[in-house]
Amino acid sequence: MCGIIGYTGPLAARKVLIEGLSQLEYRGYDSAGIAYFGSDSSMKIVKTIGKVANLKELCKDKNDVSHCGIGHTRWATHGGVTTENAHPHEFGNVVLIHNGIIENYHQLTIDFHLEGKLVSQTDSEVAAAVLDSMYHGNPMEAIRSLVPLLEGSYAFCIMFKDHPGEIYAVRNVSPLVAAYTHSGSLIASDLTALIPYTRSYFVLPEERIVKLTAYKICMYDMEGNSREPEIMEVNWNMDAAMKNGFPHFMLKEIYEQPEALKNTILPRISRGLPDFEADQIPDAIWQDLSQIRIVACGTAMHAGMVAKAIMEPLMKIPVIVSIASEFRYEDPLIDNKTLVIIISQSGETIDTLAALRLAKSRGAKTLAIVNVKGSTIARESDYVLYTHAGPEIAVASTKAYSVQLAALYLVCCRMAYINKALTEEESINFISQLLDVIPAMEAMIHQADTIKAVVNHLVNQPDAFFIGRGLDYTFSLEGALKLKEISYIHAEAYAAGELKHGTIALIAENVPVIAIATQDKIFGKTISNIREVKARGAFVILLAKENATVDQGVADIQIRIPNINDHFTVFPIAVVLQLIAYYASLLKGLDVDQPRNLAKSVTVE
Ligand code: G6P
Repeated sequence: MCGIIGYTGPLAARKVLIEGLSQLEYRGYDSAGIAYFGSDSSMKIVKTIGKVANLKELCKDKNDVSHCGIGHTRWATHGGVTTENAHPHEFGNVVLIHNGIIENYHQLTIDFHLEGKLVSQTDSEVAAAVLDSMYHGNPMEAIRSLVPLLEGSYAFCIMFKDHPGEIYAVRNVSPLVAAYTHSGSLIASDLTALIPYTRSYFVLPEERIVKLTAYKICMYDMEGNSREPEIMEVNWNMDAAMKNGFPHFMLKEIYEQPEALKNTILPRISRGLPDFEADQIPDAIWQDLSQIRIVACGTAMHAGMVAKAIMEPLMKIPVIVSIASEFRYEDPLIDNKTLVIIISQSGETIDTLAALRLAKSRGAKTLAIVNVKGSTIARESDYVLYTHAGPEIAVASTKAYSVQLAALYLVCCRMAYINKALTEEESINFISQLLDVIPAMEAMIHQADTIKAVVNHLVNQPDAFFIGRGLDYTFSLEGALKLKEISYIHAEAYAAGELKHGTIALIAENVPVIAIATQDKIFGKTISNIREVKARGAFVILLAKENATVDQGVADIQIRIPNINDHFTVFPIAVVLQLIAYYASLLKGLDVDQPRNLAKSVTVE
């Protein structure tokens, strides 16, 4: 939530900042702004509501040379979408940008007598004002005094008007990565903004302050001692963060899934079996477990629901999936015989991070399945299994979901093998079926045009229903989420057998029902439920395997997926559901990659 960037160096800072903000825009796009030292070393601030394009327009006639500045793209939390509330915020000598929430901003306003002195309604301006009151010419000292006063999450990039050319940064929970390059020093919320300049970077740890100048970045602890950052290398290139000829990131990311799956699965197969030696995950974590808890938000949580349906019958121990924002306040029953699997694309979702910390405090073993290398969740969990999807830019998650699933299937297989729930031969067979999903996904990508045509039956409807049983029901949850988040069509996922207990009242003439029936064991039951909605006038789009026999009249349209094992159908089905949502949004003329009210990385509660 909110993208921030700072740059100081020989290049034109305004350009670097605006280009960086365009890369970071998926983190929030309510307003955007920059602050920079002009050629006379005076501070200039430009900010506006709306997207980065508006900011770019405002800056296009500015000719003054600038080599140091900070920029922000906002997802509004405290205070509405106004220019005053847009960042950067200026107070006295301080100009700053902030990602996060200062929870005790109200108390600070009172303690520092700020009533009537602030121009915005933001918690961030309060932080700027408090910092200014701490500032007596020494930036490091002032920041060190500020930090203990703050409660909440924050990533700040700060400039002091009498220190041109310098940027200071500090963070708690909210992410920051930094790099010193031949083109100057950069800091940003994530790597996508740094990657045009460097392949080496470091994650700014919490309780550290960095000072950026054109020639170096110095890091200090809270006592003022100099500390060395841990340099990491990026394992993807700029192409991965570009559309590369695709009209939208979402479509590109849907198409990238077979490759992302290969990257996630293949390095972890040894002699046909899943192997986590390179990930340094010992087999002991799969043993002597009384239960498994899976905790995540949004799409990642839906991946967890699929995993539960596979894992529980195999392992014969309870597998409980929780929404992170609920889990953290539930007083969950976990102990040292519990394995808590945390799933997060960004590795920064604040509720998921809080859930991880709670699980650790109760003595559980923790394993994180994360896409972003070096992210907070990855660093704080006992073990981490990275997915290798590359950067996911579209707000609606697609490739991250399928690689999370792939990682969970690998975990499931290793766990079952180690606990003798699967023999070696059965485990090898499981992995070979997992690999079969790659061509199955490719086959569905090739059907994109057919799927696009189907969407004509959806786009003019206010509602849509996704139904299925068992595993198919868990896929429906993700299908409904995808459709509503980018097409704004109200979509609901329902267990097909449960419809008649209320929801079927909403089925009327032409109401679209996307029915998923890929589970042989319960196929007949699902078809009966489909007949029930069909009898009430629903327009049924049936998703089933190629070899399934379906009587005429059951469905209006059918989309068939390859005949793969029931346990693995989520992968080709995911492609279909993603393409349905994508084309619905496209046909409605909406902003596919940046839907209203949403943001990609949710660093607020
Ligand atoms: C946001 C995104 C979703 C994502 C969820 C969890 O809501 O829009 O696509 O599934 O956060 O994010 P995470 O990074 O923890 O997987």
